Amino acid sequence: MTGEIAQVGVIGLGTMGAGIVEVFARAGLRVVGVDGSQELADRGRGFLESSTGRAVSRGRLAESAQQEILDRVTWTAEYDALADCDLVIEAVPERLDIKTAILTKLDGVVRPDTVLASNTSSLSLTEIAAATARPERVVGMHFFNPAPVLKLVEVITTVLSDDAVVERVRDLAERLGKKPVVVRDRAGFVANALLITYLARAIRTYETGHVSREDLDDAGRVGVGFPMGPLTLSDLIGLDVVKEVCDVLYAATHDPSAAPPALLQQLVAAGRLGRKTGSGFYDYEKAGSGTVTPAAAPDDVKPAAQVVVVGESAAASDLAGQIGGGGASSVEWVSTAGARDSLAGVDVVILASDTSPDWVAELLATMDSGATLAVASPGGAAATPAASGGVTVVALRVHPATKGGRLAEVLRSTGAPQVATLRATLSAAGFVVVGGRLRAGGVVDALLYPHLNDAVRMLDSGYATAADIDTAMTAGCGYPEGPLAMIDRIGPAQVAAVLTTMRDETGEVGLTPSPLLREATAAGQSLHG
Ligand code: CAA
Repeated sequence: MTGEIAQVGVIGLGTMGAGIVEVFARAGLRVVGVDGSQELADRGRGFLESSTGRAVSRGRLAESAQQEILDRVTWTAEYDALADCDLVIEAVPERLDIKTAILTKLDGVVRPDTVLASNTSSLSLTEIAAATARPERVVGMHFFNPAPVLKLVEVITTVLSDDAVVERVRDLAERLGKKPVVVRDRAGFVANALLITYLARAIRTYETGHVSREDLDDAGRVGVGFPMGPLTLSDLIGLDVVKEVCDVLYAATHDPSAAPPALLQQLVAAGRLGRKTGSGFYDYEKAGSGTVTPAAAPDDVKPAAQVVVVGESAAASDLAGQIGGGGASSVEWVSTAGARDSLAGVDVVILASDTSPDWVAELLATMDSGATLAVASPGGAAATPAASGGVTVVALRVHPATKGGRLAEVLRSTGAPQVATLRATLSAAGFVVVGGRLRAGGVVDALLYPHLNDAVRMLDSGYATAADIDTAMTAGCGYPEGPLAMIDRIGPAQVAAVLTTMRDETGEVGLTPSPLLREATAAGQSLHG
C-alpha cells in the first residue's frame, strides 16, 4: 500500500508515547494508543487530556478542537486493535529485547504493508529491523521531548530500508508539521550524539565543584541563549536516558568526552532520575513537576556603594552605563586611571581597557585592602593576579544579550576569595552573574566551543549536512541558531583559538580544533559554504 497514512498506532504511553499520540491526533490522524494494561492506557489518556487542557486554558486551542483531538484516539491494552493501522510506532523503554519482542509480535497482527517505526534514541535500529519479518519496512522516527512542541523528527534508515517507505515516513513527518531530517543508523544519530556529549561535558564541569549548578545552567541559558541550561535539561530528559545514550555513544566511539560522568552514574544508581522522580541535579516540588524547590536563600550581600569603571572603549562606557542604570551603586567612569588621584574608598574597580601588567600594579597600589579589581579588558585575563595588597583581582567577561538576559562571568584564580560585592553589584545592574575559574574559555565558551567542535567533526565525517545538523539542533533542542551557524557568526578563527588554548591548558586532545574548523579558519570560509 502506498496511500496516505491515515491511522497510526503508538505503543508505550509514557511521556514520549503520549506526546507522540498528541502530535498525530492534532494532525488529524486516527490513533490507537496501546500500553501493557488498560490502567496504563488510561494514564496515557490522562496525559493527553492534561496537555491539551493546558493549551485550552492558555487560549491556544478551542475546547471543541480539544474534543476532536481526544475523539480521534482509542486507548487499549489489546494489540489486535492495531490491525488496521498504516503505521505503528513503539515508544517503550530502551531495551532491545522489549522492542524486538513488540515489533515481532506486531508482525503477526498488522497488514504486511504496515510500516513499523521505533522511537529509539540509543539502540541500533538495524538490529531492531533485522529482528522483524519486514526489515525493509522498519524505520526510526525519533521525536524530541516535549514531542508536541519540538519540531524535529529524525527519520532513521538502515541498510535494509526500502527507499519508498522512508519517503512515506518523511512525508508523514511533514504532514505532522515537523521538520524531518533523514539520516543513517548510527549511535546517537545527529541530535543526541551532539547534545548528550555536551551534557556529559557540562556534568563533568559541575563535578569539579568550581561552578554551581545554577551558574552552569545560566551559562547555557543566558550566556549562549539555549532554552535551558544543561543540568535542567538533563533532569528534563531523564538522567537514566542521558546515561544510556552516553553508554551507547562511548561504546561506539570510545570518545572519553561521551563517557557517562561518575556523578551521573551515581544519581542514576540512587534512583534520582530528574523531574520524573522528583529529584536529579535539582529537587522538584513533586515527581513530574518542573518547579524546582528553592535552595537555601542567598546571602543578602549589598552592591558596592562606589564603583569606578576605567577605560576609553565603548565597552567601558556601556558597562558604566548599565551599572549606573541599575541605581544601586554610584558609578564614575574615567578614561584612564591617571584621571583619578587615588582609588581609595572605592569598593569595586572595573578595568575595561587593554593594558599592561605594570599599569594594573599602579592601579592596585592606590586601592583599599578588601576592594575588588575586575579586569574586563580583552587581553587582561591571562595577566590577572589572584590578589595584591589585600585587593582581590578577578577577570570579568560580559557577554552580548540573549533571549535569557545579559551574562557577566566572574572568573577567579584557585584560592582567590569570593567576590560577593562585585557579584551583587553586577546583579543589581541587571546582569545574570556566573562565577567560575580563571581558565581558558571561562564557563560559557568552555561549555559551548567543544560542542561546536563536535558539530564540525560530524559534518567532516560526512554523516550529515550542515543544514541537517543545524536543523536538528534548532528544531530538536530549541537552539536559537544551529551550531554551525553559531561558528559562522562567532568566527571559526575565534572558536579554534579558544579551543587550542583550552587544549594546551588541559592536555585534552579532544579539544583540538577539527581539521575542517582549521580549514575554514585558514580559508576564511563559512561552514555552510
Ligand atoms: N507538552 C506539551 N506542550 C508543552 C510542554 C509539554 N510537556 N512543555 C511546554 N509546552 C508548551 C507550552 O504549553 C507552551 O506553549 P504555548 O507557547 O503555545 O503556550 C510552550 O511549550 C512553551 O512552554 P513554556 O512557556 O512553559 O516554557 P518554555 O518557553 O521555557 O519552553 C521548552 C519549554 C519547550 C521545554 C523549552 O525550554 C525547550 O525547548 N527546551 C529544550 C528541550 C530539549 O532540548 N529537548 C530535547 C531533549 S533530547 C530528546 O528528547 C531526545 C532523546 O532521545 C533524549
